[in-house]
Amino acid sequence: MHRADQVLFGNYARFALALTNGQGCRVVDASGHAYLDFTGGIAVSALGHCHPKMVAAIQEQSQRLLHTSNLYYTEPQVELAEAIVSSSFGDRVFFCNSGAEANEGAIKLARKAMGPDRYEIITTLASFHGRTLTTMAATGQDKIKDGFHPLPSGFVHVPFDDLDAVAAAIKPHTAAVLVEPVQGESGVNMPSDDYLPGLRALCDEHGILLMLDEVQTGVGRCGSLYAYQLAGIEPDVMTLAKGLGGGLPIGALVAREALAGTLGPGTHGTTFGGGPMVCAGANVVMQSLLENSYLLDNVQEMGDRLQDGLRTLAERFSTIVQVRGQGLLIGCQLDQPSRPVVQSCIDAGLLVTAAGGNVVRFSPPLNITEADVDEALTRFSQAMDRHTRALEAQS
Ligand SMILES: Cc1ncc(COP(=O)(O)O)c(C=O)c1O
Repeated sequence: MHRADQVLFGNYARFALALTNGQGCRVVDASGHAYLDFTGGIAVSALGHCHPKMVAAIQEQSQRLLHTSNLYYTEPQVELAEAIVSSSFGDRVFFCNSGAEANEGAIKLARKAMGPDRYEIITTLASFHGRTLTTMAATGQDKIKDGFHPLPSGFVHVPFDDLDAVAAAIKPHTAAVLVEPVQGESGVNMPSDDYLPGLRALCDEHGILLMLDEVQTGVGRCGSLYAYQLAGIEPDVMTLAKGLGGGLPIGALVAREALAGTLGPGTHGTTFGGGPMVCAGANVVMQSLLENSYLLDNVQEMGDRLQDGLRTLAERFSTIVQVRGQGLLIGCQLDQPSRPVVQSCIDAGLLVTAAGGNVVRFSPPLNITEADVDEALTRFSQAMDRHTRALEAQS
């Protein structure tokens, strides 16, 4: 860690933990301590660490062809696009390397498709869409933008889960609405059931695009392949990343044919996007979800079990004020900052994330078992006990 601090940017508030190995939902640090990993690389490691099928696919592809650029076709990229198209509303996929890049693509697509007079994009307060200048501008959190102005213009922010606010913000120059089905980074904020259907209706009424940022919620995380399916609607554009690569860097922009067609040759691109090795790994994630209905059922069941267990703990620990989430994207809201609790969890052998300041977020692999959930609850309870005692000792 000392070596790292000498050479790396200090832009992450890292925990003092150097990880060396992982298997399933467990990781080991440099001194041999094992942790139950319910962070999952921030909702990324869909099949857990070093899943044998992922390892085999990556090994096999790495001996065949690592990189080609997008000047040519490769089988793994086409196979992955087919899997996404056949399982979603979309007809066309553009591959890139991250969630932010997928959202950049969505924003460019909206601008190009809607023409120069309809350029503004409505997004929500407390949203998170990425760290590039434009996706920061789309993000509805001032603390993320501080120090980086001027940012690209053309975004307006309204409160999340507020259809009236969206309706009032739609103007003749509006091109699209961009929202997360569940706000992940700002603390697993869930909208009401009528929110996404209401947004769909508003977008249809005004002839504007509904773009869903499913970077965190997509690829099984919420218990359906894509979170929009739970709301019974279809967006015009969707972005994916995180879970899609199961740990390999990939993003995807998904749209219907007519829209996608507006990004013709030379309008958009990325050298590394959808490379054969990354797609070979992502194909294992997609095939696992498409071929085993067990996996999505497991996400629902394990998510319910974890939420139930956390609610039981809330009866013991008054610091827990709310438990919420969908599938295996779960937030446990505290009445105080969550980072110290996340540190106590590390001390108790459990990795979880702090989100939205006072929320402990659980986003484990999709294939965890009942035993894993029960162990996470035991460790979380130990961490809460330790944290509560430390607070009492201070007062
Ligand atoms: C909803 C959402 N969109 C976009 C991003 C940005 O993704 P990336 O960090 O891969 O650029 C994130 C990352 O947390 C996210 O949760």
